[in-house]
Amino acid sequence: MNLIKKILVAQTAVMALWAVSAQAATNEEIAERLKPVGEVCIQGEECAAAGAATAAAGGAARSGEDVVGKFCNACHGTGLLNSPKVGDTAAWQARADKQGGLDGLLATAISGINAMPPKGTCGDCSDDELMAAIKHMSGL
Ligand code: HEC
Repeated sequence: MNLIKKILVAQTAVMALWAVSAQAATNEEIAERLKPVGEVCIQGEECAAAGAATAAAGGAARSGEDVVGKFCNACHGTGLLNSPKVGDTAAWQARADKQGGLDGLLATAISGINAMPPKGTCGDCSDDELMAAIKHMSGL
């Protein structure tokens, strides 16, 4: 008898949870259906959709100085592991010449090269942020 009671209680609990989660899903579906189909952006005004996209990408773009300070300086500040040093424009220029310019350096920065980790450990850096960091370090 006691066991049957326990089973009933457990079943009721499962049903209650199921009902709650079913309700939640329904609310989400309703919100999805109520969403406007498109959004109009007016020139000169900040566009909500564009703002959301920027937020999704991690907020406003960080400056090259910021990215270098947080990520690249760990190695490039002192030339650790034979990395080109911050401010050593000649060393960066030689590398840029070899890779076909700043875009080439950006490509190797993204992929990583030898002891240089992909994206210089800034996994959520955009290409623009990495390029700003490269320009900041190289002075090119
Ligand atoms: C863990 C150390 C380390 C960190 C952190 C690091 N680098 Fe490097 N980086 C290196 C090393 C070592 C090299 C030289 C690799 C080689 O040529 O063998 C290098 C080389 C480079 C090069 C030249 C690539 C080429 O083709 O010659 C670029 C550009 C670069 N790093 C960008 C960055 C940027 C941007 C960051 C920060 C977002 C960063 N690195 C962070 C170690 C690091």
